[in-house]
Amino acid sequence: MSKKLFIQTIGCAMNVRDSEHIIAELGQKEDFELIDRYEDADLILINTCSVREKPVQKLFSEIGQFNKKKKAGAKLGVCGCTASHLGEEIIKRAPYVDFVLGARNVSKITDVIHKKGAVEVDIDFDESSYVFSDFRNSPYKAFINISIGCDKQCTFCIVPSTRGEEISIPAELIVNEAKKAAKNGAKEIFLLGQNVNNYGKRFSDSGKNIDFPDLLEMISEIKEIQRIRFTSPHPLHMDDRFLKVFASNEKICKSMHMPLQSGSTKILKEMKRGYTKEWFLDRAQKLRQSVRGVHISTDIIVAFPGESEEDFAQTMDVVEKVKFEQIFSFKYSPRPLTKAALMEQVDPQVASRRLKTLQDRQNEILDEISSKQKGKIYEVYFDELKSGGKIVGRSDNNFMVEVVGSEELLGKIVPVKIVEPKRMVLYGEVVKQTA
Ligand code: SAH
Ligand code: F3S
Repeated sequence: MSKKLFIQTIGCAMNVRDSEHIIAELGQKEDFELIDRYEDADLILINTCSVREKPVQKLFSEIGQFNKKKKAGAKLGVCGCTASHLGEEIIKRAPYVDFVLGARNVSKITDVIHKKGAVEVDIDFDESSYVFSDFRNSPYKAFINISIGCDKQCTFCIVPSTRGEEISIPAELIVNEAKKAAKNGAKEIFLLGQNVNNYGKRFSDSGKNIDFPDLLEMISEIKEIQRIRFTSPHPLHMDDRFLKVFASNEKICKSMHMPLQSGSTKILKEMKRGYTKEWFLDRAQKLRQSVRGVHISTDIIVAFPGESEEDFAQTMDVVEKVKFEQIFSFKYSPRPLTKAALMEQVDPQVASRRLKTLQDRQNEILDEISSKQKGKIYEVYFDELKSGGKIVGRSDNNFMVEVVGSEELLGKIVPVKIVEPKRMVLYGEVVKQTA
């Protein structure tokens, strides 16, 4: 009889992909059925995020709840970045946890489920050439890792301490995965890494000479793949060659994530981001000039230690100049193992006010952008069914578009006319094609 597996995934796209890998590996050795009620599961896994403090605080109440209501004999495992960060501390605080599996030890899942008290959190473990078994939540959403870890030392960020040093995955493995995904129905693939445009700086075995633009060109030669997306590139590595390939390769979706973090050159220096406000603006302007209709999204942290009103005004100035199509904005959250946690912190009320100022202004910008979309026609790749006979997808430049429709649109790229644009979603109608 098959065992029942419940897995809860928190955090970034990389965690989503890690969870798929976990499910794939488990399924390779034993018969597991995925379920969505943890009360019925034989194995409960939580794949955690530690980038900000809140999800970490919630972890112990969540696993406490799992423990209270789980089936007798069910096992409970904590995976992901908080597992890497807290390690055996988790079992000390919550002795009912059966095992702890770090973000860089995913391939060991089939071992740890049989070892009560196992803690596998080695951040030097190299999984860059490991070929994971095959599983995807949806055949139409194909995440593919291109590197593990991160070599940057941004002073606010815990990721280098949870995912270890950056190692690129061999290009042939990536291309094979892309081909496999395409064969299974994906027209679009999504390349993942903490620093995708730093690809190729270090492989486990030396002797390769492939960088990110090369990799993009290689993947674009796969006939069945029509669209390529990636996240996150780093503004520091946005050189002219990268922007040229981005602009000229028709399969690369015209949507770029440029994590700004701060618009103040002084704060960027304190963050150790490696670029200035002027460099960022220059790259964004070059993108807007060379790629018609490009969307630029970003991440912004407000109230990093030492951020003055003037520094924050610099961030708002970049927001005004670039007019990002999407901003993921966060209040700075002090993280253990990071330099910024030891610096002088900004008053929490000031932080909340700055976040609100940023988000209010961004909402106005978004309303302006979306109101201009009425009547436009976009090619939309539909990859997700919604309840009530709706289906959603993304335009090439990353607008979320929803239409009335069913399974027959899944995995297809179809022209859609926008009839009712809203801030976050553009509602549209499929354009009837004459044969
Ligand atoms: N490598 C990615 C970042 C991964 S973390 C990149 O360069 O884009 C995702 C985002 O979380 C970061 O871009 C940052 O905006 C935010 N973040 C990271 N650490 C944070 C912290 N301590 N407080 C608040 N936000 C943080
Ligand atoms: Fe974090 Fe900076 Fe790397 S934000 S993931 S240390 S690029």
